[in-house]
Amino acid sequence: MADSPASTVRLNKFLAQSGVASRRGADAMIAAGRVKIDGQAAQPGSQVAPGQVVTVDGTPVAAERLTYLMLNKPVGYVTTMEDPEGRPTVVKLLDVVERVVPVGRLDAMTSGLLLLTNDGDLAYKLGHPKHGVPKTYRAIVRGLPGSAALRKLQQGVHLDDGRTRPAEVKVIGTRSGGAELEITIKEGRNRQVRRMCSTVGYPVMELERIAYGPLTLGRLGIGASRALKPHELEALRSAASGG
Ligand code: URA
Repeated sequence: MADSPASTVRLNKFLAQSGVASRRGADAMIAAGRVKIDGQAAQPGSQVAPGQVVTVDGTPVAAERLTYLMLNKPVGYVTTMEDPEGRPTVVKLLDVVERVVPVGRLDAMTSGLLLLTNDGDLAYKLGHPKHGVPKTYRAIVRGLPGSAALRKLQQGVHLDDGRTRPAEVKVIGTRSGGAELEITIKEGRNRQVRRMCSTVGYPVMELERIAYGPLTLGRLGIGASRALKPHELEALRSAASGG
């Protein structure tokens, strides 16, 4: 059965994820009245929300585990935790009880690789300009940029918050009326790729992040998420410490 609403998790799944018992074993513990949520006896269908304290026989269950996820963000979702315009937030797409937050931002109209974690230290390091973790985007732009525009994108573009650092820019192909570019930047300024491309005269029509440091989307479907594999986490930690 699906967990609902998003960001809560069914109690038996929570207990199973915390290593207390199998889901079936957890159901038996709940039925026997051994499990409480915030001091109240739990029911078989109870849900656990982030921040709630679950006890078994009076003993609190597992502090939040450090969780590292990759999401293939669809267009139309915001990466803030709430949106005054009522657009859906990416956390609604996740099925974890841990309070993960996005690492950096993607615009609502940008799709692709978004990391989410509750490891504040790693998130901080990944976002720190000192480490310059590269992020690669596939951009469809209107018009066909010539070598002068491409050189500007590569060498640095003057934006209203300063000149951008050197970027890698490749033309992957052409589309009707446009070009497909692969752009790798080592900064994370607000709407940076869109602003860079507009400034040189080639506005972005579609934008997708295809890589974050050593990680790529692979076959992850749009809207799907998964935990990082141990070797991916190790590579990410290394990138975050300038490795
Ligand atoms: N650059 C943009 O313009 N938008 C994003 O979401 C990320 C990078």
